[in-house]
Amino acid sequence: MQPKDRLIFPLDVPNKAEAKKFIELLREEVGLFKVGLELFMAEGPAFLKYLADSRVDYFLDLKFHDIPATMMGAQARIMKGAKLATVHIDQGRKMRKTIEACKNGVKVLGVTILTHLGPDDLEAMGIAPEYARHPTKLVLLRAKLAQEAGCDGVVCAGTEARAVKNEFGKDFLVVCPAIRPLWAAVPGDDQRRITTPAEAIKAGADYIVVGRPIRMANKPKEAAREIVAEIAEALT
Ligand code: C5P
Repeated sequence: MQPKDRLIFPLDVPNKAEAKKFIELLREEVGLFKVGLELFMAEGPAFLKYLADSRVDYFLDLKFHDIPATMMGAQARIMKGAKLATVHIDQGRKMRKTIEACKNGVKVLGVTILTHLGPDDLEAMGIAPEYARHPTKLVLLRAKLAQEAGCDGVVCAGTEARAVKNEFGKDFLVVCPAIRPLWAAVPGDDQRRITTPAEAIKAGADYIVVGRPIRMANKPKEAAREIVAEIAEALT
């Protein structure tokens, strides 16, 4: 993998026209584009077909969370062409058949704990203080559920990447959002368990997801290049 292949840019934009603008601008700068709920709700599966027809690799980040039968139906229909996809994995091995049936060339990642959540949020959800106060411990527990479910890896914060790699080995994929380069200030940022690109890569992240620091930069292409340079440096 080249350093740029490790950079994922989320197309968190309201429509296809905006998405196309960023795809054209960043196609040579990033490894994968990510389609999340905003764009999927606006443009639907037709947009995924457009990406596949345009030979644009993508990560389908719809974070499925439902009973296995429903997920089986949904995933089987939309995952063709995606390289990565996400599911919530609190059901552990009960999801195994669904995940295996849906792989179809796609690598499935389990969402561990969304990166905008901190210990207070986890306690408010009723998670035992032993885990709520130590998110890495909860991430490891959920990564185990992901492994039992047959996932190829997990999504977690850069602060948790090293622990996941140590526990589950180098082939278990780690994808880290909540990446904030030192030069990027995101107004009203909701992300909490943040790291820089270099910190996440040094901790073992296979991919980093960087949205607003690129999207809101005056020069998004240059911002992406700077992040790729930071990834390259961290890998040496
Ligand atoms: O703009 P920003 O760099 O915060 O983008 C983060 C992206 O990563 C968003 O598209 C968000 O949906 C996604 N994501 C996340 N936390 C997760 C999984 C995905 O922020 N645990």
